[in-house]
Amino acid sequence: MNNAIQTLHDHEQAAQAALSDAAWAYFSGGAADEITLQRNLSAWQNICLSPRVLQDLRDGHTRCTLLGHTSPTPLLVAPMAYQRWAHHHGEAGMAMAAAAQGCGMVVSHQTSTPLQDVAASFLQDNDRGPLWFQMYWQADRARTQAMLSDLEDSGYQAIVLTVDTPVHGVRDRERRHGMQLPTEVSAVHWHAQTSAHTPAQTSGLCAGLADSAPRWGDVQWFIQQTRLPVLLKGITHAQDAVRAMQVGAAGVMVSNHGGRVLDTMPSTAEVLPSVLQAVRQQRADALVLVDGGIRRGTDVFKALALGANAVLVGRPALYGLAHGGARGVAHVLRLLRDELETTMTLCGCPTLSTITPEHVTP
Ligand code: GLV
Repeated sequence: MNNAIQTLHDHEQAAQAALSDAAWAYFSGGAADEITLQRNLSAWQNICLSPRVLQDLRDGHTRCTLLGHTSPTPLLVAPMAYQRWAHHHGEAGMAMAAAAQGCGMVVSHQTSTPLQDVAASFLQDNDRGPLWFQMYWQADRARTQAMLSDLEDSGYQAIVLTVDTPVHGVRDRERRHGMQLPTEVSAVHWHAQTSAHTPAQTSGLCAGLADSAPRWGDVQWFIQQTRLPVLLKGITHAQDAVRAMQVGAAGVMVSNHGGRVLDTMPSTAEVLPSVLQAVRQQRADALVLVDGGIRRGTDVFKALALGANAVLVGRPALYGLAHGGARGVAHVLRLLRDELETTMTLCGCPTLSTITPEHVTP
């Protein structure tokens, strides 16, 4: 990487210069006034660290176990659509870089590379994080079952069902620039959901989803269709976290979809403690992951200190990809890993299990 690129912010600027206006609007934009998008960032910044000095720091590492998979680091790449729009390396490049950095990857239902090819790129690395796949509910149950079976056969280790997007958010920037994908880029596993009741003025990728939007009973059915563990993504309310446990989810992702769906929701850092408490009261072994606004190793540390099992990184990885392909992604993830290790050392925490709520002050 060029020496001028030393932070995730530098990667973001390089990505903006590399992408078309429409692609930049799609990937970097959020819903409406982007209040939640900004709040995701500032909430981590507003939590203070409370380091302990003179601790025994020998034999430190960042290993963690996620659904039985031992991962070198508690970082996963969040699901993001159309990565070949950002760079021709696309999801395969993202997967190679994530695996090489010991991170996990959650492949998007709207991947622009076949799920089997992404898995092949990722699974080459032995010392990697877990490989999961994110899905939206599809009204066609037979299609869902077929896809789950393909995912099981291709080596995916868990399914992440996104539950916060019955319809597309109000995305002003995206609408201004038009969501015109290059002809060679498409969501290869995506089947448009049709609805007889879709008002003519709706537009966008998820138009028409509201009629066929899933309910809790559908989620329960979904979980029963696969031997893989299912996590629910987009949980921000404690009572929804309880419902998620009751229907048999293996865990939840505290997420507001990167501020891309419903503006003026609170940040994920703000709702994480209440969701964690609700989940832990139900099942001590369920996973709670968080995404949204992670830009520094200190942010990762704070999420872990609040009690998250692991953290997902979305836009920063995409920005690395956009201007530097797989090498750019690897650099972004390396920076986060290194910054997390530095933060842990400076806070007196040699391993993840020694990070506690007492290491942060809200
Ligand atoms: C898709 O999930 C998007 O946020 O664009």
